[in-house]
Amino acid sequence: MTSKVAVVTGGSRGIGRACAVALAEAGWTVAVGYRTSEHDAKETLDALEAAGTPGIAVTLDVCDEASVAEAFRRVSEEAGPVTGLVNNAGMSRDGLLLRYPVEVLDATLATNLRGAFLCCRAALRGMLRERWGRIVNMSSAVALHGNAGQTVYAATKAGLVGLTRSLAREVGAKGITVNALCPGLLDTQMTSHLTEEARAYYVDQTPLQRPAHLEEVAAVVRFLMSEEASYVNGAVIPVDGGLTA
Ligand SMILES: NC(=O)c1ccc[n+]([C@@H]2O[C@H](COP(=O)([O-])OP(=O)(O)OC[C@H]3O[C@@H](n4cnc5c(N)ncnc54)[C@H](OP(=O)(O)O)[C@@H]3O)[C@@H](O)[C@H]2O)c1
Repeated sequence: MTSKVAVVTGGSRGIGRACAVALAEAGWTVAVGYRTSEHDAKETLDALEAAGTPGIAVTLDVCDEASVAEAFRRVSEEAGPVTGLVNNAGMSRDGLLLRYPVEVLDATLATNLRGAFLCCRAALRGMLRERWGRIVNMSSAVALHGNAGQTVYAATKAGLVGLTRSLAREVGAKGITVNALCPGLLDTQMTSHLTEEARAYYVDQTPLQRPAHLEEVAAVVRFLMSEEASYVNGAVIPVDGGLTA
């Protein structure tokens, strides 16, 4: 059996933490990538232990090439070859295009798209050696339907879809699958700035009439990372309660 060691970027809270826990339940040793909060990362580690497979915490800023390289080196050294990657780290700043600050555009591209590229590259080296791997990229339903005020975020998430489909074609023959998830609304720090009206609007647009629970997204990630998902490759999967149906 191949080693089951996965890196989850932005794993210290929100969707990333839920994915880490779901993977630990499935026997993965998870490296919880965190950028700012060691305290939150430790809380995730406690949850991993409770889920049955202890993990490790590793500082990982996806915008910083050296940080990515060092994190993957450390994880391989401490836990074994990395065969799983969840590119979950992301940022979102809403704003109309005409007034959007170019610095925020650059930061969003660097985090959501360039960061995923760097982590895929770092993870692939070990996966190719193992001739097995699973990559899941956290895109968004916004990549599929667009949203006024979210041109930049949507463009980065649509970019992830293109990266996913193309990389899936590059590495599929090596036993590595690459898939993308497009969640709809979840109540996390990222969406905590939404006004009641905006939140109600998204809920109203969603046939299931509610946001997703974190576990509902994490369960799909766990499946895509499993041996059972061996023929799912290059898929772009909405987990949005029917928002984009
Ligand atoms: N919530 C939603 O409704 C929703 C819907 C669809 C897709 N998503 C996507 O799901 C993913 C997780 O979001 P969330 O809702 O759980 O939001 P969140 O709680 O704000 O989590 C975002 C995570 O990304 C990390 N991060 C940001 N910049 C980073 C960097 N440069 N390097 C490493 N980590 C970085 C954050 O850590 P730091 O604070 O330490 O930087 C945090 O752990 C994101 O990719 C988001 O776009 C969310």
